[in-house]
Amino acid sequence: MTSYKELGLVNTREMFKKAVAGGYAIPAFNFNTLEQMQAIIQAAVETKSPVIMQVSKGARNYANGTILRYMAQGAVEYAKELGCPNPQIVLHLDHGDTFELCKDCIDNGFSSVMIDGSSLPYEENIALTKKVVEYAHQHDVTVEAELGVLAGVEDEVSSAVSHYTKPEEVIDFSSRSGCDSLAISIGTSHGAYKFTPDQCKRDPKTGKLVPPPLAFDILHKIEAQLPGFPIVLHGSSSVPQDEVDTINAHGGKLPDAVGIPEEQLREASKSAVCKINIDSDSRLAMTAAIRKHFDEHPGDFDPRQYLKPARENMKKMYIHKIVEVLGSNDKL
Ligand code: G3H
Ligand code: 13P
Ligand code: ZN
Repeated sequence: MTSYKELGLVNTREMFKKAVAGGYAIPAFNFNTLEQMQAIIQAAVETKSPVIMQVSKGARNYANGTILRYMAQGAVEYAKELGCPNPQIVLHLDHGDTFELCKDCIDNGFSSVMIDGSSLPYEENIALTKKVVEYAHQHDVTVEAELGVLAGVEDEVSSAVSHYTKPEEVIDFSSRSGCDSLAISIGTSHGAYKFTPDQCKRDPKTGKLVPPPLAFDILHKIEAQLPGFPIVLHGSSSVPQDEVDTINAHGGKLPDAVGIPEEQLREASKSAVCKINIDSDSRLAMTAAIRKHFDEHPGDFDPRQYLKPARENMKKMYIHKIVEVLGSNDKL
């Protein structure tokens, strides 16, 4: 058993309390590689932001659980080395799908886990979440649950349709499951294709797709049911058009990729939404920089030559999210 406390990590409890009260959201950035982790920590330190580094089941299989544990410990030490004496860093399991996976993460240094029972029948979701909460709380690890189903398709996380969270269920679900935070479905979805072109309007000036707005009415009803309770938004990448254009200009093919407009995430951050999940924007920033680099430097083959600009581009994106969208800067 390795407690996250030995690694210098923190759980989400205090962080979320402050974020809800302060009207901002904590960035939850997915990572699989060293360069993503370095960029996340550099951005968090430079902006004095708490940060959640999260790994999916697929990422854990890709990178290896033992390596990830030491990377998280390395992240804490790296933040201190960069001049942040008390970094607030969470290592979180994203979309845990079984009790066994959550337990394994808790036993190996994670300070927070998500148990995603959103595709299960309601009572089964409660029962599974409660089982994870009972184990996690023995180790002072916090638990995110999910109620409602997001649309979209991604490697490990897929659903053909979306079912918005029902506000009338959230009190019963959170009190009976004991979860510490709740991911809800209000129109976000995973990946770089969050809406089909026919679900969007076309901006007559730019020709770009404009997606339908998030269901803020549902968010406000949920907030009214659970005042001050930490709410989480998954699928919150904005799919920046400049990165998509760079990818497409350098041999890529991402037609009609569309995300959540940043104004809407800015608005959500001011509410009880206190954790915003971003993965696809990091993938896009990395891919855009690498494609551009290879196009301009076809002779390069040392990975540092193309991963350095990729890391810089991700760091720029992370800083932008923290300062211009989520408002979690200057909170350490
Ligand atoms: O919500 C899912 C994350 O974007 C992780 O995706 O399962 O492909 O690692 P992944
Ligand atoms: P995006 O695909 O919008 O980045 O969402 C990531 C996410 O929700 C991770 O859990
Ligand atoms: Zn997600």
